Formats: sequence, structure tokens, C-alpha cells
Amino acid sequence: MPNLSQLLTTKSSVEYKRVFEHCRDISNELDGVDGVYIVGGIVRDLILDRAPGDIDLSVVGDAKAFSQELAARIGAASPDESQFLTFKIRTSGIFSDVSSIDVVTARAESYADSAALPDVSVSSIDDDLKRRDFTVNAMAISLAGSDWGTLVDPNNGFGDVMRKRIKVLHDSSFVDDPTRIFRAVRYAVRLGFKLDSRMNELISKSIANIDRLSGTRVRNEFELVLSEPNRVEMLRMSEEIGLLAAISPGLRIGTKALQVLSEQSESDSVELPDLLAITTFGLNEDEANQVVQRFDAPPASGESITGNAQLAKHVAVLDQPNLAPSEVAEILREIPLASINAYILAGPPLPRRDKLVEYVEKIRFIKPEITGDDLLEIGIPQGPIIGQLIDVVRRAKLDGKVSTKQDEIELAKSRLPGFLAK
Ligand code: CTP
Repeated sequence: MPNLSQLLTTKSSVEYKRVFEHCRDISNELDGVDGVYIVGGIVRDLILDRAPGDIDLSVVGDAKAFSQELAARIGAASPDESQFLTFKIRTSGIFSDVSSIDVVTARAESYADSAALPDVSVSSIDDDLKRRDFTVNAMAISLAGSDWGTLVDPNNGFGDVMRKRIKVLHDSSFVDDPTRIFRAVRYAVRLGFKLDSRMNELISKSIANIDRLSGTRVRNEFELVLSEPNRVEMLRMSEEIGLLAAISPGLRIGTKALQVLSEQSESDSVELPDLLAITTFGLNEDEANQVVQRFDAPPASGESITGNAQLAKHVAVLDQPNLAPSEVAEILREIPLASINAYILAGPPLPRRDKLVEYVEKIRFIKPEITGDDLLEIGIPQGPIIGQLIDVVRRAKLDGKVSTKQDEIELAKSRLPGFLAK
């Protein structure tokens, strides 16, 4: 097996090196630890000379004791343990490049059912690599003193990195875990690799299994795509291989949405609600509702997806000339900001766009100075009248009919009799 100790020492940042060296020392000193390896994405990224992400370690033997000792040596809190024999060490306050270290017990996995979470059992490093998604993610480098730097690569991941190929380890990989279809798209685009020749066939055969994933898992995978700098290419590829339609039949990314996403520079950090609103721009109400349901989306994300269709119903009114700011605010007050922003970017260049911009930049910030307490103080009785009067004042302020707090109080007083009479 080739020795990649050079990658551990010269290609890794100081923080990574420190962790690797602690691992080597602990494996020498701690009874019950027969091997410790970096595994998965970090190995692939070190070979490709890309900045690696968080550190994944696989321990043959007592991973719990190992992770506790590692956490203590780097000054981190005791690791969080999960049901899958994994231990997470949080390092965000300690390191700047590494936010967590995941330590797993080297293990084999079996799937009782497609898309179910796996059953796991303790095993060797080779078995641990066999359970993984793609050959390029199924390599390990030993950190033990005796074979520091040795590459463990039973599936020829190194060869596939050199050939720039994403290849599954076995034909039922996507059936076992359909989230791997999303992962194939992410790695192919992110690394500039091609899907191996049989992958398209295997993906088509198993794409219907996306249905078996929970809403949360599908949404997480989709959001991971959106969080990548190359999201546009990933969305295009997802559409091409039928992944978007497999998520929800009406989910497609319109040309205008793709154009807007491509125009946003990679360094712009666009918030998730905005990304969701742009990517689902153009979906009708039913299609948007289906996507929200499929994603089991929490309210904030759900509103960004359904808000576009909601806005589309009312937006034409904004083309009317001489619309008062209070009328603009009335039309837009229930619409999520992300959907308004998406319309500004992706909608047609009609007068309505200027109204939307004015709303986002100015109108929505205009608020009355008076509060309910001010009105109670001048003797207005408690109850719904307070809210109604504040609303009257808010509109007057939006339309420039009052300017000082005193004006606002006078206006509220003058309208009180009308409300009391109702
Ligand atoms: N893995 C897998 N199947 C999955 C998820 C993960 O086989 N559905 C394995 C892969 O070996 C992967 C490793 O677990 O490399 C760690 O998962 P993750 O952190 O998601 O992947 P990385 O390759 O580290 O990804 P990234 O570079 O995207 O952070």
C-alpha cells in the first residue's frame, strides 16, 4: 500500500497536524485501540490538494475511550455519543479550520429496508470502508505509529480520484441509501468529476426510492445542494437525472431562476430563505404546496416556497399608477420578504418591480412613533380600538400625512369618536 505520510505532514494545516499527532500518540498509549484512521472526504480532499472539511476518524477498538482521550488532549468538552457508535468532539471554540471531529467505531452496516437507517456492528477498517457511498470516499489513512501514513484503499478509490470518476461500491448502493443520489450530484459537480458509466443506469433504477426518504432527509439533502458554491450546475444536473421530479413532480428550476442564481457571485452569502424562494420561483400554488409538504418544511422555509405564488396573485395591482405607499404596504404585508426579493430578481421588469424595491428598502421600515401605551395614557380605552387606531396612524405616516408624534396623537384622538360609534 502506498504511504501518504507526506500528505499528513506537509499538506495539512497546523490544526489538522496537531489532531493527527494526538491520534498517533493516543493509539500508541491507549489499551484497547488497535487502529486509528482518517477516513472519507478528508482523505479524498488531501489527495486532491483541496482544503479538507471536518475530520472523520475511524477507530478499530474502543472508540469511546479514544474520543474521550482526544477531546481531553485538545481541550474540548466530552464527546456527544450517538446510537450509531459515533462520538462527536466539538472544536469550534478551539480550532478555526475544524469545527468538529467525528470518531466512529470501525463498523459494518446492513440495511433492513431501502432508505431505512442502517443496522451497525463493530468490524474491521476494510468492512468500515465497504459500507460507504463512493470509491473516492472509501479510503483511509492510518494514523497509528506503526503504519503512520499507510493508505487503505480496498476499492481503488485512489485510481478513481486520478480518473476523476464517481463510482459506487456495489449496485444496490442507491437502493440502500437514496440520499447518495444527491451526494453523487454534489461530488461530481464540486470536484469536476464524471459519474462512472453505470451510475446513470443505477440512478434511474433507484430514483423512485427517493419517495421512501423522510421529508427532513430530503430537505436536508436539497439544502446542502443549495449551500454549495456550484449550486446552479448541481440543480441542472439534478433536473437532468430526474432527481427534482422524484422529490416532487412539480419541482423544476426555471431558466430565470437559474440565471439569477448564476448571477449571484460565489462570494455573496445568500440566506437559505432567499435561495429557496429563488429556486422555486415560477411554481404555481399547488406545486409549491406539494414541495412544502414533501419537505415537511418548517414555517420559515415553507413560507419562502409558497410566498412566490401568493405574491403572484396580487402583484399586478402594483402596476397601477399613483398607488399610495399605504396601499403598497397593505398588499405586501403578509408576503414573506424572501419572495418579494425573489420577484425583484426574477420577475418581469414592469412598474411593479420599482414598487417592490421601494417596499423592501423604505416602506416596510416606516412605523408610527406612538405605541399602545401612549394611547392608553391619553385615556383611550384598552381593547381592539388601540390596534385599529395605531393602524390608522401607520397608514397616515406611510402616506406622509403625519410627521411628528404629536400629529399622530392628534390623528388618533380625532378618529376615536368614529371607532367608538361602530
Ligand atoms: N457516507 C456514506 N453514505 C452517506 C453519507 C456518508 O457512505 N449517505 C460516508 C462517506 O464515506 C463520507 C463519510 O461517510 O465520505 C462522511 O460523510 P460526510 O461528512 O457527509 O461526507 P464527506 O465526504 O466528509 O463530505 P463533505 O466533503 O461533503 O463534507
